[in-house]
Amino acid sequence: MSTVSFQNIKKAYDDLIIIKDFSLNISDGEFVSFLGPSGCGKTTCLRMVSGLETNTEGSISIGDEVVSDPTHKIFTPPEKRHVGMVFQSYAVWPHMNVFENIAYPLKVQKHNKTEIQNRVQEIIDIVELTGLEKRMPDALSGGQQQRVALARGLVMKPKVLLLDEPLSNLDAKLREKMRYDIRKIQQDFGITCIYVTHDQIEAFSMSDKIVIMNKGDIIQMGSPIEIRNNPANDFVADFIKTQH
Ligand SMILES: Nc1ncnc2c1ncn2[C@@H]1O[C@H](COP(=O)(O)OP(=O)(O)O)[C@@H](O)[C@H]1O
Ligand SMILES: [Mg+2]
Repeated sequence: MSTVSFQNIKKAYDDLIIIKDFSLNISDGEFVSFLGPSGCGKTTCLRMVSGLETNTEGSISIGDEVVSDPTHKIFTPPEKRHVGMVFQSYAVWPHMNVFENIAYPLKVQKHNKTEIQNRVQEIIDIVELTGLEKRMPDALSGGQQQRVALARGLVMKPKVLLLDEPLSNLDAKLREKMRYDIRKIQQDFGITCIYVTHDQIEAFSMSDKIVIMNKGDIIQMGSPIEIRNNPANDFVADFIKTQH
């Protein structure tokens, strides 16, 4: 559990500036969504927290630790940041069963066998995969695969959980259930979450705070009610109106 802070983040690929000046403070235990149209920089901002992408300027902190600040030559590699990640594409290992997939991060960290057994079983129960420990991914539904990915992201008790469009590949009914389940798990764990989506229903139904982005800028941030009642400008009003 941790705060996350972006301070004056700039991200450029050579001459192409993707993020100009992004600053945001996320509180401990908060569920924050990055909401905006495709290509506005949501994934880039998320990946900079994980360390899979580097910021060009500015600093990123997780809790008290500055994890990236190019001006001061600070860069903590992804595996030392203690963040969990869940992607749209599930990215579960096809050659490992449910238990092995979820245990993988703990094995990499060389935890002992009993501890791995206990922690994996605990998380399997939480994400409601009990009884499916030995199933291979190709015998799981999309929703079950996404639960495996979620469990794998949570198993090493990360400081922050990062989710990038995790429900986009699921059918509508399952999406609704998973929205509820993810939010409940997040609250039970009290874990800080950053959730990237282009789907306003997801953002509005799950978040403590929504950050509305366009072209690399923060257009508005606030609680779902604040944004719904007081859209900052036409872009926000149109974006939250025109989506279904
Ligand atoms: N490796 C890269 N080189 C150049 N441009 C990139 C690269 N990765 C992403 N971009 C650009 O950065 C912008 C933001 O992308 P992204 O963060 O993936 O947006 P979102 O997740 O909001 O859809 C897009 O215009 C995308 O084309
Ligand atoms: Mg994206």
